[in-house]
Amino acid sequence: MLRLAVFASGRGSNLRAIVDAIHLGTLKGIEPVLVISNNSSAEALEIARTNGIEAIHYSIVSAGGDETTYEQGMLELLRSRHIDLIALAGYMKKIPQAIIEAYRGKIVNVHPALLPDFGGEGMYGVHVHKAVLSAGKQRSGATVHFVEEDYDSGAIVLQAECAIDENETPESLARKVLSLEHDLYPKALQLIVKRLEHQS
Ligand code: GRF
Repeated sequence: MLRLAVFASGRGSNLRAIVDAIHLGTLKGIEPVLVISNNSSAEALEIARTNGIEAIHYSIVSAGGDETTYEQGMLELLRSRHIDLIALAGYMKKIPQAIIEAYRGKIVNVHPALLPDFGGEGMYGVHVHKAVLSAGKQRSGATVHFVEEDYDSGAIVLQAECAIDENETPESLARKVLSLEHDLYPKALQLIVKRLEHQS
């Protein structure tokens, strides 16, 4: 059974989708054991607690204000919980280099567009959907990808597409893409679990 940590800064609907898929038995071989948030009032922390998952608020400030202590403390948290895989789900902080190096190929993220388009620094939330509509695209979607040093640059695991309607707004597109994400993220995690099981 792989031990999963989820990093989330806000509402946590993707965390909920992952937990639901595990409860339903559609996502197997993985157990969410830790949720980390840089935001002490993130709903994601509450979702974790109500599902019996350890929930930790962890930020540079809570770690004492020093970058190196923060990075090492995060690594220690992950190692002490024997984390195998990390899923970013609306996590608004850059992942420290030390974590990327220690968990290369074992950190994934969900992005609300069809990468490699509409990714990179500043491309988050409604900014993504505004950019997609301004570019006159007829399709958008969601991408689950591995996390590397540069934003949204790692190998793609899985994508799902949707059509953009004539009267689409950034908000309506955000809703459409989010519901794709909820289906896509557990499926992508299942693929990764299978791949990692074959490797071990
Ligand atoms: C999602 O749209 C995801 O693509 C992006 O942040 C949002 C997180 O939503 N990275 P939630 O917190 O999982 O509801």
